[in-house]
Amino acid sequence: MTFPSLPIDERLSLDPITHEDAMGAFMLLSTYPEICAHVTFTPPKKVDETAGYFDWVLRVGPSKERVWKICLDGELIGMIGLHDIRRRDQALRLDRAEVGYWLGPAHQRQGVMTKALNRVLEYSFGEFGLRKVVAEHFVVNEASGNLLRKVGFATVGVMRDHVEKQGQLHDVVLLELLGSAYAV
Ligand SMILES: CC(C)(COP(=O)(O)OP(=O)(O)OC[C@H]1O[C@@H](n2cnc3c(N)ncnc32)[C@H](O)[C@@H]1OP(=O)(O)O)[C@@H](O)C(=O)NCCC(=O)NCCS
Repeated sequence: MTFPSLPIDERLSLDPITHEDAMGAFMLLSTYPEICAHVTFTPPKKVDETAGYFDWVLRVGPSKERVWKICLDGELIGMIGLHDIRRRDQALRLDRAEVGYWLGPAHQRQGVMTKALNRVLEYSFGEFGLRKVVAEHFVVNEASGNLLRKVGFATVGVMRDHVEKQGQLHDVVLLELLGSAYAV
């Protein structure tokens, strides 16, 4: 099973990651460790760490994880993915996933992730048939919260001391967006 590339405009596109993309992602994440300040992982020290994550994503497959590289003129500048995709749990239909993303600093604050996120949401609620997409961000990550609210996510609540990263506890904001509330 494969999943589609999502073209955005003449310069920007979302393309499913392959093993060959690990080096490009590693170069950005290791050169600009600040990207990782509020995400689930720490800056990789070796390309093997990034390659290991790519291997895992590709091994579990697109029924669980769909991760795209964000390409500007063909160059990887960030990533966006649907994670923990869940269709059903016994008698329950779930049809939901969690979205996550990061972008290299040279391309931040230019509307790139607004476009990428909207494209993924359009796909999620369209041909992919999800009913809900959820997102989480550390309370301190205002950029991510602003981005999510800008595209229509609503805050569900704040989960206190929800995760510990490198010895520090974080409150985490949970947000959700229903396909029925999403205006394409
Ligand atoms: C969060 C992130 C993806 C935003 O991407 P981006 O392409 O810069 O975002 P956009 O330019 O599309 O901005 C969308 C909105 O987000 C908000 N925003 C973006 N960067 C911001 C910042 N540094 N501070 C405050 N708000 C910010 C703004 O409200 C902006 O809307 P506006 O331009 O109309 O004011 C980017 O900062 C990033 O990659 N951060 C590091 C990784 C990360 O934290 N990932 C999320 C983990 S939950």
